[in-house]
Amino acid sequence: MNIIEIENLNKIFKTRQNHFQALNDLSLTIAKGEMIAIMGTSGSGKTTLLNILGCIDHASSGSYRLNQKLIEGKSLQALASIRNRDLGFVMQDFALVDHYSVQKNVLLPLNYLKDHKLRKERAARLPALLEKLHIRHKQIEKVMNLSGGQKQRVAIARALINEPEVILADEPTGALDQKTSQEIIQLLRAINQEGKTIVIVTHDPNIAACCDRMVRIEDGRIIEDTKLILSV
Ligand SMILES: Nc1ncnc2c1ncn2[C@@H]1O[C@H](COP(=O)(O)OP(=O)(O)OP(=O)(O)O)[C@@H](O)[C@H]1O
Ligand SMILES: [Mg+2]
Repeated sequence: MNIIEIENLNKIFKTRQNHFQALNDLSLTIAKGEMIAIMGTSGSGKTTLLNILGCIDHASSGSYRLNQKLIEGKSLQALASIRNRDLGFVMQDFALVDHYSVQKNVLLPLNYLKDHKLRKERAARLPALLEKLHIRHKQIEKVMNLSGGQKQRVAIARALINEPEVILADEPTGALDQKTSQEIIQLLRAINQEGKTIVIVTHDPNIAACCDRMVRIEDGRIIEDTKLILSV
């Protein structure tokens, strides 16, 4: 089953002076459970694509189906609930609240859940989740006191607390050294093996090599789509 289906997607950024076409008739399908790397030079359109997949931005034309549901035409409120329920985000700069504790950061997405019982159930999973990510001993530490690798583990825990089907990661290892990057990618791989679909934008060929598939974008178009045979 395809969890993501995009067809003839175009994205044009309009400023007062000019237009810029960041995505050009791009089509891509991602199967449920796939772990896919998106590569391409700076400015090629990777973040633009990820933002559309993440319902943070909308396409100028074309269609996007997430879990068979058409995303265009949905209200802002509907998009916010899709983001919170179906998607988890991991960013290069971690995007955490530095003066909050680890647990407060990880539990933040639950604030948007209306169902009280569900919220409690999910919050109860916190210790096991932190354990799995090897940050249980930092549960009440402020995020500002953590290492880069630990911060990214907190961000991954936050992305997972709502049990989304899809994790979108924009250069999740961009601010980390090689060794820590490998640890983070192996962690994402393990999460993928539990059934999550993962899309990772990366400049690092070593990170892409840990994925099932590598798509290369140039000037808003896909120029390469390769299935990878994993050596790990
Ligand atoms: N809000 C915007 N307004 C105008 N142009 C934009 C906007 N956002 C992105 N662009 C342009 O779209 C193109 C693609 O940008 P994008 O951020 O997707 O690149 P990227 O592949 O993620 O690059 P990097 O590897 O440097 O992160 C760039 O030329 C960028 O300048
Ligand atoms: Mg980018």
